[in-house]
Amino acid sequence: MTASEKQDIAAFLDLADDYLRDGFRLDRPQRAFADDPAAGAVPAEAAQADGVAGVADGDSLERIAEEVRACARCRLAERRSRAVPGEGPAAPLVMVIGEGPGADEDATGRPFVGKAGQLLDKMLASIGLSRDTNCFIANVVKCRPPQNRDPEPDETAACAAFLDRQIALLKPRVILTVGRVPTQALLKTSEGIGRLRGRFVDFRGIPLLPTYHPSALLRDESLKRPAWEDLKLLRERISD
Ligand code: URA
Repeated sequence: MTASEKQDIAAFLDLADDYLRDGFRLDRPQRAFADDPAAGAVPAEAAQADGVAGVADGDSLERIAEEVRACARCRLAERRSRAVPGEGPAAPLVMVIGEGPGADEDATGRPFVGKAGQLLDKMLASIGLSRDTNCFIANVVKCRPPQNRDPEPDETAACAAFLDRQIALLKPRVILTVGRVPTQALLKTSEGIGRLRGRFVDFRGIPLLPTYHPSALLRDESLKRPAWEDLKLLRERISD
């Protein structure tokens, strides 16, 4: 069974549970499902010896991108101009994970291309990273939430299998989450970004460093110094 089929079943069971309880939807943490290994694929347990989730036979970044562009698993698909699968090299040093596309990303189909994205590119360049060579950039949800609101838990859950597959394929040395939304979604916590940032935590065997979202830095100058401290930590880790 594929991760997305398991996701659909879990979403259905949650819905039934809410209906039978009192009819109100409960917020639920994002679940992480992996595809069952296809015949001949690396068994998940073997791949997990180094902590990385298994990759289903034949899976690829291009295939994920095609599925993302055709996806209608949640309401965000109805209003998108373009889905935004993510971009970067196939074997990156760092995978940057943001929240979800904004207006510029929705218009172009590319992640982090607006003002915040331009700042992100500069931040990455300051420590030798670039989406052209060694850094893959993706988001927790691949379609723009209206008015740039936070993604709803069911939207994040509907998109989770895409991100899981990307991480499993990319096997980045380090994951950098930018902002509260991706950090909370991946680490399944409600702790604020101010407390989570600035130290590495383990995510499925991959060191994950949370930092502030570049749009927060554009709003609040005082966050630039701690964000720079985080980037220095990242630079140290990737130059090991
Ligand atoms: N903000 C995000 O979190 N992601 C984008 O792709 C653009 C802005």
